[in-house]
Amino acid sequence: MNSISDIKFLFKFLFIYLLIQLSTGAELPGNWPTLDTPPPIVAEYTKLVDLSKVANAEVRTINDVNNGKCPNPDQYCNWGCTKCVRNQTDIITCPNVGDWGITIDDGPTPSTAKILDFLEANNLKVTFFVVGSRVVEYPEILQRAYKLGHQIGIHTWSHPSLTTQTNEQVISELKWTAEVIKAAIGVVPSYMRPPYGDYDDRIRDICAQLGYKIVTWDRDTEDWLSNTDKSFKLSWIEGNFTEWVKEPGKPGHISLEHDLFADTAAQVPSAINIVTKAGYKVKPVGTCLGNDNFYMNNTTTPVQPNSTASTTSLPAYTNAPTSSTPISSTTSDTPKTPTPSSQSKSTSLAIKSNNFDNFLWSIIIGAILFTATFF
Ligand SMILES: *[C@@H]1O[C@H](CO)[C@@H](O)[C@H](O)[C@H]1NC(C)=O
Ligand SMILES: *[C@@H]1O[C@H](CO)[C@@H](O)[C@H](O)[C@H]1NC(C)=O
Ligand SMILES: *[C@@H]1O[C@H](CO)[C@@H](O)[C@H](O)[C@H]1NC(C)=O
Ligand SMILES: *[C@@H]1O[C@H](CO)[C@@H](O)[C@H](O)[C@H]1NC(C)=O
Ligand SMILES: *[C@@H]1O[C@H](CO)[C@@H](O)[C@H](O)[C@H]1NC(C)=O
Ligand SMILES: [Zn+2]
Repeated sequence: MNSISDIKFLFKFLFIYLLIQLSTGAELPGNWPTLDTPPPIVAEYTKLVDLSKVANAEVRTINDVNNGKCPNPDQYCNWGCTKCVRNQTDIITCPNVGDWGITIDDGPTPSTAKILDFLEANNLKVTFFVVGSRVVEYPEILQRAYKLGHQIGIHTWSHPSLTTQTNEQVISELKWTAEVIKAAIGVVPSYMRPPYGDYDDRIRDICAQLGYKIVTWDRDTEDWLSNTDKSFKLSWIEGNFTEWVKEPGKPGHISLEHDLFADTAAQVPSAINIVTKAGYKVKPVGTCLGNDNFYMNNTTTPVQPNSTASTTSLPAYTNAPTSSTPISSTTSDTPKTPTPSSQSKSTSLAIKSNNFDNFLWSIIIGAILFTATFF
């Protein structure tokens, strides 16, 4: 090899690399924080909330949350601990008998797509509370859900127990998620769901000032348990829905399921079939509340995510990303046990398989062009 052929060789490599870069899927513009990791605190976001008007509830430790150690007395109305409800604000049920708000949390993931197929075929609309950092991974799935008319809600950036986060961290979790949803679908949700249903007056006040209504649930499938608890029977999900639809005289329900893992996502169609066959009307939560506008009318100037707002240049986090174990059996929402690392691993594997077709095609096209150009 002489140096000319070395250079030629280098050029060929660069050429193929460029083609691969150009052909691998649509990505969200912007420089977003890391998957399933607490996002950086941004001063512009913090400024949106008057912290002097936020309830002074203590920031709990993750150990206390995991061990079910709750503030006593429950001065700040912690729903996760005591099911305390502020009736003026908290959304737990659909108010009208016969309505059923189906909510599906923790996506978007490739498993969401199959749920969307089912809902589209049956002309049904539901609510998805999405994790901001996963929107970065699968923006096209969120875009499809939105275009189909489903309600998109905020479910934080990295899925922490919010009562373990400082005010600034809570704001950051919510605002980054709002921004990435806006980047993907052009609107900012006006409804949010706190991970694990863990919220108190401090979280209520922050959400209220940011314009987000808090939605939890009155019917919990506990489906997230199935990912780690092998004694959990997926058939219990259908079993539970079958029981629930028989209960007479109750207001409408809001049920909780998850689309993070394929197993539980696959149960969504049969659960919905049980609900509709029993005569309930499946609705997005906003619709069952009589509000068909699920989003903010005016979205104040977003803070553009950029590299100066990177995690490294900002204060360190006192709370590691949580892989918490159950708060209590009544406050389950979502997988608590996948560790952040296993989470990222499975997600990045999913991305790989998702982009594999693109990758394959770019190799083939690259090879053809490469041959044509250089020989
Ligand atoms: C909310 O309403 C329920 C019943 O409607 C009641 O039992 C509960 O005490 C109320 N909660 C608060 C905080 O007022
Ligand atoms: C409902 O789910 C629970 C677990 O969350 C399970 O113990 C119970 O057996 C289920 N009920 C039915 C009828 O399947
Ligand atoms: C948006 O505007 C409509 C009509 O002007 C109003 O009914 C709705 O409540 C507003 N939504 C929000 C989130 O402010
Ligand atoms: C709309 O904009 C005004 C002024 O910028 C702000 O005070 C208000 O909270 C915004 N409304 C919503 C629903 O975000
Ligand atoms: C980047 O973000 C920081 C903090 O949000 C902001 O102050 C700065 O103006 C931004 N820079 C650019 C070039 O957008
Ligand atoms: Zn969740």
